[in-house]
Amino acid sequence: MNDPTLIEDLRDLTVVAPAGDAGTLGLAAPPVLDLDGLLEIACDSLVEAGWASLSVLPYLSAELITALRNEVELLDNSDAMKVAGIGRGEDLVQDRSIRRDRIAWLEGHTDAQATLFQLLERIRHELNRRLFLGLKRFEAHYATYHPGDFYRTHLDSFQGRASRIVSLVLYLNDTWGEGDGGELQLYDRDLPGQACARVLPEGGRMVMFMSEEIPHEVLIAGRTRYSLACWFRRDEIPLPL
Ligand code: OGA
Ligand code: MN
Repeated sequence: MNDPTLIEDLRDLTVVAPAGDAGTLGLAAPPVLDLDGLLEIACDSLVEAGWASLSVLPYLSAELITALRNEVELLDNSDAMKVAGIGRGEDLVQDRSIRRDRIAWLEGHTDAQATLFQLLERIRHELNRRLFLGLKRFEAHYATYHPGDFYRTHLDSFQGRASRIVSLVLYLNDTWGEGDGGELQLYDRDLPGQACARVLPEGGRMVMFMSEEIPHEVLIAGRTRYSLACWFRRDEIPLPL
């Protein structure tokens, strides 16, 4: 598959309400599925392919996405975001040939973050209930990629550490075009080097994948790219990666 358009959102599980009765009544069509239904599809896809790409706007309001984006924009503009590293603790290194984003950890203290954390807890609960993953907690950070920034192909966790089990990325950009770069490219877990999806970081899109299985990379961003990354973990207390 050399044509990148072919691998774009191949497994886009977005459920669009049919343009039926609600339209004629002048009401916004309600989502066909409730959040549980959406998470069921996401879990099935995690088992089958190791990843899922979802549009969560009907479940997570546009206002919340905007509030989160305003937070990360403010942090970025006030130079409060730190150059991201690779590894943990004493092994932490900053290698600009591998990643160039800046990050700020979320504490859940603002209203927007508290609302988001409730949703992430619900997702953690569903992942455990449906997939028996034994996830104990999550951690989350904002990330900013400025023009020219990227994150080369990597795994979020190494097998056997029982640390990061499921990764989740939520995009906070208003709009994102084909020419803007900065896509998340996912690689097939069974076919080394074979890209299986390229996801535009549009506001309200959420990607989930198995942290130990799915290699992925952030392609060079052509404009400032805001996102939020979260990892559901099996350990109770942070251990070095
Ligand atoms: C990461 C990562 C992907 C993205 O932060 O580890 O891979 O699309 N992020 O921002
Ligand atoms: Mn990653």
